[in-house]
Amino acid sequence: MNKKVLVTGGAGYIGSHVVRQLGELGYDVVVYDNCSTGSANAVLYGKLIIGDLADIDKLYQVFAKHQFSAVLHFGASLIVPESVALPLDYYANNTRNTLNLLRCCSAMGVNQFIFSSTAAVYGELQQNPVSESAPTIPINPYGRSKLMSEWLIQDYALSSSMTYVILRYFNVAGADPKGRIGQISPNATHLIKVACDVARGEKKELQIFGTDFPTPDGTGIRDYVHVEDLAAAHLDALRYIDMGGESQIFNCGYGQGYSVRQVIERVKAISGVDFPVVEMERRPGDPAIVTACANKIRQVLGWQPKYNHLDTIIFTTLAWDKQRQNSQLPVNGKLTRLYSLVS
Ligand code: UD1
Repeated sequence: MNKKVLVTGGAGYIGSHVVRQLGELGYDVVVYDNCSTGSANAVLYGKLIIGDLADIDKLYQVFAKHQFSAVLHFGASLIVPESVALPLDYYANNTRNTLNLLRCCSAMGVNQFIFSSTAAVYGELQQNPVSESAPTIPINPYGRSKLMSEWLIQDYALSSSMTYVILRYFNVAGADPKGRIGQISPNATHLIKVACDVARGEKKELQIFGTDFPTPDGTGIRDYVHVEDLAAAHLDALRYIDMGGESQIFNCGYGQGYSVRQVIERVKAISGVDFPVVEMERRPGDPAIVTACANKIRQVLGWQPKYNHLDTIIFTTLAWDKQRQNSQLPVNGKLTRLYSLVS
């Protein structure tokens, strides 16, 4: 019998890529998502249950109906400035809802848990690249809500037979290389998405937040990881737990940083559009450099990224957005010629 897994937030950007990979490998997938930022159209495999993680009664019913062998927990809020403005919402949606999920796991004896965490748990980095053993001192409610979730998971695992893998994501970007799914949120704020939107004329200019960082060109450096590789890490994590691996925390990045100016230069080159760029003050709370020491995930999980090239990340983002713009479909449009170039 196929392994049955629950994927919370499986209609969202990262979750939907994981669901697709799980489905392709024959997992029996149940997605639980309130579709507040995700889309039912992005769920290409399995059964979608529309529900909120705050609704613990409904969640119990779902657990009682299906016998899950593992839970993959993506459902969360993730915009840093929003978390500063609405901290209670972030602690409720991220931390309290993780507790709800763990209560269901406890009640129903589900003992495998994969959790989406973030490099934001490290806060201001004392070392770059940062390793998993670095101090975790998050500097905003988003990072704190995720770190508190990590603690809940770790403490519950210590008291039970549950094994977990916590993946701390760095800067996730890109889209399915075959063009089936990608980011659909109109409010996405992250650099590659915004730069691609500007290149397509959706936004009038790209603002660089800070040009006086202590980096070679004065702009912030980040470790951009393709969503497809990130998704694959979750499947590696499931296999690892199945084979009896111990609970672990892994950074999920490539260990290679690019500056804002480098990203802009590549988006301009690949799109062929010399769009306007405006230099602004630093954005509050932005560290200069955030890159992952990614040795552990490669060694322990055997993670082998396939799309670790900035151009590929930008290309798939541009292609996905272009396809959606042309087809005017929410997701799942016809493949464009661009996709045949990257797939
Ligand atoms: C991202 C994630 C965060 C994660 C972190 C890990 C999102 C929304 N945030 O944050 O959850 O914890 O990576 O490293 O995905 N920039 C501009 N102009 C723009 C947008 C961004 O100059 O219009 C700059 C920023 O100042 C920063 C870099 O680009 O130097 C990346 O910013 P962004 O893509 O927003 O991601 P992070 O803030 O690093």
